[in-house]
Amino acid sequence: MKTVMLVFGTRPEAIKMCPLVNEFRKRQNEFKTIVCVTGQHREMLDQVLKIFEVTPDFDLNIMKQGQDLTDVTSRVLTGMRDVFKECKPDVVLVHGDTTTSMAAAMAAFYQQIPVGHIEAGLRTHNMLSPWPEEMNRQVTGRIADYNFSPTPLSEHNLKEEKAHGKIFVTGNTVIDALHMVVEKLKSDKALAVEQNRILKAAGYDVTRLSNGKKLVLITGHRRENFGDGFISMVTAMKDLSGKYPDVDFVYPMHLNPNVRKPIHEVFGEDLTIYKNFFFIEPLQYLEFVYLMEKSTLVLTDSGGIQEEAPGLGKPVLVMRDTTERPEALSAGTVKLVGTDRDLIVSEVSRLLEDKEYYDSMSKAVNPYGDGQACRRIADALAGKETDRYEIK
Ligand code: UD1
Ligand code: UDP
Repeated sequence: MKTVMLVFGTRPEAIKMCPLVNEFRKRQNEFKTIVCVTGQHREMLDQVLKIFEVTPDFDLNIMKQGQDLTDVTSRVLTGMRDVFKECKPDVVLVHGDTTTSMAAAMAAFYQQIPVGHIEAGLRTHNMLSPWPEEMNRQVTGRIADYNFSPTPLSEHNLKEEKAHGKIFVTGNTVIDALHMVVEKLKSDKALAVEQNRILKAAGYDVTRLSNGKKLVLITGHRRENFGDGFISMVTAMKDLSGKYPDVDFVYPMHLNPNVRKPIHEVFGEDLTIYKNFFFIEPLQYLEFVYLMEKSTLVLTDSGGIQEEAPGLGKPVLVMRDTTERPEALSAGTVKLVGTDRDLIVSEVSRLLEDKEYYDSMSKAVNPYGDGQACRRIADALAGKETDRYEIK
């Protein structure tokens, strides 16, 4: 029996790791499963743990308001050292590109515990974009003994770097999470009604969309965009809401104060005065997917949303200069618009007005997985023969 410890700390890692926790827990004859959260995020992490009914065995609870990268790195390093001294798993699994993942991988390396990297091999090859995530994932990739790559391209990136760990192409576990939530919403009509109620209480009434009204769903949080980049992005959003009074704009705001400051600078202190712009608190994963499904398009700088939205047939405009997810660019479902005010306005306008263009981007293509990633990862760690994920 193998003891597997999964370590994660932020919202997107939790969304992508919880289905894997549940897969390991299902296979009790093969694995002893330990979950350690760092608490790099607090409220936004706890929201996800609740939905997936995951109770951590360890919680480092490291989050401080306005933490910087050194705070997070040092607290995860020392916290994980103490956890590893208390229980020494056979393998530690970390996810993606956060500072939690990089520091936990480093802490495991110092204790000579093998590391498995979930979502391995994504690259922009630009250390400043996304910052610090590109470095985080490259460091983790150097350490990893097992690399679970979501796509053949991410496998290729690791081979080019001569990564020492074994590579398995599995698809992304976010698609496992997405399938689970979409199925739940489809099969349980009462749950959908409940989402309407929760969203209304959160500040957005989805029945506004019943007459064919369009919805632009927005998120943003990247560190490299803080400052001028964010001001420019938010100004473009204000331009758009003025230009299209009949379109609704919904922005579930990340809790990072650096995200909220420019919003207030551009929209003013009182965000409730706008008739077609709805600033709301971060949504639970279920509600967010429900709203994304109802949206016309998504304007975001998020990584995970670039993987989910194409599966729902929603065009994504990415407010970044680079992406480590070029598969969606090739499929034509995602487009980079950077942080330039005029470009954001013109690209959103084009999608809202040009039906042919909209239809060309609105394809339900999902290059990121088939919902079987967790099974493949567990099979590989159990030493079983497993199939390889191929993009259809
Ligand atoms: C982190 C990750 C980023 C990931 C993002 C997902 C790093 C360096 N950054 O960025 O890769 O894309 O999470 O959202 O690992 N806060 C709260 N409550 C929460 C979460 C955040 O109050 O539940 C506030 C706190 O003031 C905190 C701040 O947000 O100090 C920043 O959190 P942090 O995890 O350092 O950075 P993110 O921008 O969230
Ligand atoms: N998400 C959520 N609630 C929200 C906004 C996003 O549950 O209010 C989900 C979204 O579906 C995706 C993930 O959070 O799976 C993306 O997280 P984020 O953008 O914070 O991080 P990134 O993916 O950029 O690392």
